[in-house]
Amino acid sequence: MRRAKISIIGAGNVGATTAHWCAAAELGDVVLLDIPATEGMPAGKALDLFQASPIVGFDARITGTNDWAATANSDVVVVTAGIARKPGMSRDDLLSTNAKIVGDVALQVRDTSPQAVVIVVSNPLDAMVQRMFQVTGFPPARVIGQAGILDTARYRAFLALELNVSVEDISAMLLGGHGDTMVPIPSCTSVGGIPVTQLIAPDTLEAIVTRARNGGAEIVSLLKTGSAYYAPAAATTQMVEAVVRDKKRVVPCAAYCDKEYGVGGYFVGVPVVLGSGGVERIIQLKLLPAELAAFDKSIAAVKELVSVMNRLTA
Ligand code: NAI
Ligand code: 2OP
Repeated sequence: MRRAKISIIGAGNVGATTAHWCAAAELGDVVLLDIPATEGMPAGKALDLFQASPIVGFDARITGTNDWAATANSDVVVVTAGIARKPGMSRDDLLSTNAKIVGDVALQVRDTSPQAVVIVVSNPLDAMVQRMFQVTGFPPARVIGQAGILDTARYRAFLALELNVSVEDISAMLLGGHGDTMVPIPSCTSVGGIPVTQLIAPDTLEAIVTRARNGGAEIVSLLKTGSAYYAPAAATTQMVEAVVRDKKRVVPCAAYCDKEYGVGGYFVGVPVVLGSGGVERIIQLKLLPAELAAFDKSIAAVKELVSVMNRLTA
């Protein structure tokens, strides 16, 4: 059977860690690509990872390159290219720098892997996935943003810590934009099938939600030189697996919503069925009035971000 081809654009922390986990799970052959100025770096990381394969016992070819031709006809392209926000940099600085980078990457993806499912990770996520969609012109089902699996994982991990139970028994769903505008849905959070509201007091649950919302910033303040990458890469790998193995996973992803939830043509975090076609279905939840109000606020924040990006890239 032909192995899937997975290209990862940006061989930095998130890209290289995603390559590691995709290869170790034998999801396919992996190509790591970075800009010409990093000459040798992606090839060095790829060779090092490949040399781990006889020890760990995985069959996957991993190559590193600065040449887009090596990514041709990928089944999945993961985009982690970009910069993280540094001190003194405004949100708009990050937005305009990464919109330019993601726009350039999108042109290459369009021309080299026209049938790929594209998973965008670069920040600000909700705008970068829209940029990828605008520039590639790919069908919306094949352009997806990674945020919800990470945000949900943080929430699940903190709930497991609070309750002193296995993380495996916490099931949860979040909607909305990445990070500070995410919307928890307590009615979709359970612990071994038991509604979380029967196990945790409302103020404790609220504190856990707040910590999950600030999960990225908490890691930045500890690392000081960069942002999180193990959990973001694990989340991205779960999306790659759902696509290459046609798993039909039900997970929160930034997906193109038009009539869905009345969004009107933007990417926002919603529950989707993820399979070989990318987003195969968007699941519409019946939201309580407070959840709906929070989701509407989150959608408004995404629209504002995209409108600033559109002005900056016009
Ligand atoms: P990093 O700085 O370690 O790696 C970024 C890499 O992108 C660098 O190696 C850089 O040379 C490369 N790059 C820049 N322009 C490029 C281009 N045109 N083509 C190919 N490669 C290019 O950063 P890290 O930690 O890997 O984060 C990457 C991005 O992912 C950032 O924007 C970060 O904010 C975002 N992120 C998003 C998360 C999410 O949940 N959506 C979670 C974690 C990070
Ligand atoms: C995070 O949530 C920086 O978006 C990144 O860790």
